[in-house]
Amino acid sequence: MNAQENTTLTLPKWVDLHAHLRQEPMLAPLIEAQISMGCRGTLAMPNTKPPLAKVLEADPLPYGSVESYLGRIRAIAGDRMPEVIVPLYLTKDTTPKMIEDGAKSGILRACKYYPPHGTTGADFACGLETFMENGVIEAIEETGLVLCAHGEEHILGDADFFDRNRNAEILFYTNRAPRLLDACPDLKFVAEHMTTRTACDFVKKAGPNVAASITPQHLLYTISDLLKGCKYHLYCMPLLKFEDDRAALREAVTSADNGKFFAGTDSAPHTTKATECGCAAGCFTGGYAPQLYAQAFEEAGCALESLENQQIFRQFLCTNGPEFYALPAAADGETFTLTRTPRKVEMLEIPGAGAVTPLPLGTKRDTLPWSVAV
Ligand code: DOR
Ligand code: ZN
Repeated sequence: MNAQENTTLTLPKWVDLHAHLRQEPMLAPLIEAQISMGCRGTLAMPNTKPPLAKVLEADPLPYGSVESYLGRIRAIAGDRMPEVIVPLYLTKDTTPKMIEDGAKSGILRACKYYPPHGTTGADFACGLETFMENGVIEAIEETGLVLCAHGEEHILGDADFFDRNRNAEILFYTNRAPRLLDACPDLKFVAEHMTTRTACDFVKKAGPNVAASITPQHLLYTISDLLKGCKYHLYCMPLLKFEDDRAALREAVTSADNGKFFAGTDSAPHTTKATECGCAAGCFTGGYAPQLYAQAFEEAGCALESLENQQIFRQFLCTNGPEFYALPAAADGETFTLTRTPRKVEMLEIPGAGAVTPLPLGTKRDTLPWSVAV
């Protein structure tokens, strides 16, 4: 065996700062998948059924509550995955008072902006201007909560939706995001699942209150990988982009000063991906994300034999995100290992729901160069 074959990184347990854990009966198996890949926490997205658009269960609004969902996750995960954040889904019914009371109660740590009709489960969303006018964004800024943004412009004609130099994300980061941060310069803002060079430049130029999460799929693949053979398991929102965009993301995460960029997988399971009239958006990476990120770092030229590169990888996967969200650091000894041992990827069977397909299954590969032990 040569030195490369048994490279092992012992890493602090990490927090996946963007994942979809859905609702029962998918919730428990998806939590187990997070724990199995070394997570000590997850920021669990609120586009469940029903959406999590109120903070307290006692609120009469006809939505699910952050309070109840947190309780259900804690009942399954317990001490094994203690750092759970559930952002409030911003809808027409969100008020500044809901944000202020939620922040005071300690239940609410973040809010989620979806572009209306922009993606799976975004049917309850409202345009950003609504929240800039009704005081909701100001309340988020003043309470110090984090605004997690799905940064894509909505209601676009085909020409603006996807083009080499113009697409929904580019429009958001050249138009809406600058106006938002001019109006609320202290807003803690996360450019979630960032995919373009434009968004990357925006985040780099902004103050320390602005950061970004990046998924494994956007570091590993481009739109060509999706189009060649119509690999629909690679279909997610925001869409995979071009070579130059991927190069910008790779450069951002693999540079020694990658402090504004962190892991957020956007793992989004669908038991039925391809339908008769289209395809559900979402890449599932539960159980395999550190391995996929490691592969992406190496494809970007950041070989993980080097101690210096291991440190850069650790920052991106394990420490930058928790620091931005002011979460406690992993305790000494709270670690997992990532070893260069090839591992076959397996479907996840979810009793009562069906099977979900983790990447890279559904592409040309079924094996990852790395494996994880917890
Ligand atoms: O691809 C996506 N899938 N993007 C999203 O924003 C939502 C997610 C889902 O919930 O399936
Ligand atoms: Zn998502």
